[in-house]
Amino acid sequence: MEKIPFSPPRVDQVTVDAVSEVLLSGWITTGPKTRALEEKIAAYVQSDAVLCLNSWTNACELMLRKFGVGEGDEVIIPAYTYAATANIVMHLGAKPVMLDIDPKTFHITPETIAQAFTKNTKVVMPVDIGGLPVDYDGIMSILKNAPFQAHSELQEQVGRPLFLSDAAHSFGATYKGKAVGTQADVTGYSFHAVKNLTTAEGGALAFHLPNGVDHAALRKSINISALHGQTKDALEKTAGSSWKYDVIEAGFKCNMTDLQAAIGLVELERYDQTLKRRKAICEQYLDGFKDQSWFLAPHFEDGDRESSYHLFMLRIDGASEAQRDEIMERVQNDGVSVNVHFQPLPLLSFYKGLGYEMNHYPSSFKAYSHEISLPVYYDLSDAQVERVIGTIKRAVAQVL
Ligand SMILES: Cc1ncc(COP(=O)(O)O)c(C=O)c1O
Repeated sequence: MEKIPFSPPRVDQVTVDAVSEVLLSGWITTGPKTRALEEKIAAYVQSDAVLCLNSWTNACELMLRKFGVGEGDEVIIPAYTYAATANIVMHLGAKPVMLDIDPKTFHITPETIAQAFTKNTKVVMPVDIGGLPVDYDGIMSILKNAPFQAHSELQEQVGRPLFLSDAAHSFGATYKGKAVGTQADVTGYSFHAVKNLTTAEGGALAFHLPNGVDHAALRKSINISALHGQTKDALEKTAGSSWKYDVIEAGFKCNMTDLQAAIGLVELERYDQTLKRRKAICEQYLDGFKDQSWFLAPHFEDGDRESSYHLFMLRIDGASEAQRDEIMERVQNDGVSVNVHFQPLPLLSFYKGLGYEMNHYPSSFKAYSHEISLPVYYDLSDAQVERVIGTIKRAVAQVL
C-alpha cells in the first residue's frame, strides 16, 4: 500500500512558479522577496518589526547575543524540547536551566519558572510545543518581579529577564484572540521543511520589547550581525548611491535568500487554508480515537488559546517506552510514517554528559515515553487519516 509520509511540504505549481520567477529574476539572495515576507509576517502577527533569517536557531542565537547573554548567565528552558533550544544557550557559554513540564500542556509554567529564578537568570525561553501557546500573560507577569542584574545596554533598557518565546511550532496559533507574536518580548518562528509554514529552511524574529526599545534599530543590528557585521547588504550596495560599506563586528552568515522567501510568500498567502485543514485533520484523529480506553487527547485549545495544529501528539495510556517503540515499528511497517516529539534533553548523550539527569524530569520522561506524533499535512486526505487511525488502533491492540 502507498506510504503515508509524516509531513511533506505543501508544494504545488504555484510554489514552483514563484521560485522560478525568482530564479530567473537575476536576484536570488536576500532582497525584495525577503523584505516582502518580513512585512507580510509583521502584518499577520501585528508586530512592527520582523527579521527573517536562515533558521530559528541562528535567529534566536543572535537575539541572545544581542541581549548580552554569556558566561555565568542562566536561560530557563523546558527539558522537553528539541536540542536547538538548549544548544544556542550552550553556544554562548551560558547555562540552560531545564525545567520539567506540566503533564497536560507539555509547557513550563509561571509557577515552575518563578521557582527557578536566580540573580543570574537572563532569559526565559518557553516552548509552544506542538503549536499550543504557553501561558504568555502568566509568564510575563512573574517576569516583572524577577530578580535581575543588568549587564548590557539592552538589559538595562528591558530591566528584567528577556521573554524569548520558542514559537518554532506556533506560527498562526492564537493567544487571547491574537496571533502569537506580540505576547513575549521576542518571538522566534521556524520555517524548517516540516513546519506548518515552510521556506525549506528559515526562521524569523518578531520584536515586541518594552520601555521604548527601538525595534527597527534592533532588527537592523541583528541583521548586520547575520551578515558578517556588514553595514549594507548586497541589495543596499547595489541600490544605494555608494557601494562602500563598513564591517563593524566579526558577524555571522545566516541570511534568508529570496528563493526561500518566495516559498514563504506563497505559503503565507494561503496559510488560513493550511491552518483550517490541519485543524480538520486533528479533529478527525480526536474523533477516531475518542472511544479507545488508552487514548490521551492532545490539548489544542482552551479559553485563552488555540494551537497552530503543528503536531498531533498522540499519547497511549499504559504504554511503556518499549511498547511505544514496538507500536511505532508496526505502524511504520504498515506504511505510515510517525515520529516522536521529543526525546527530553537529559536523555541525549551531550546533555546527560553535562550532568542533567532524566529522573529529575519525570513528567517530561512520561510525556515522551508514551508519545507518537501522527502525520499532519495539508494534502493528507480524509481517507488517509482513517487509514492512520486504523493502523494505530491495530498496532496498539496487538502490543498492549
Ligand atoms: C521546539 C523547536 N525549537 C527550535 C527548533 C529549531 O528550528 P530551526 O530548524 O528553524 O533552527 C525546532 C526545530 O525543529 C524546534 O522543534
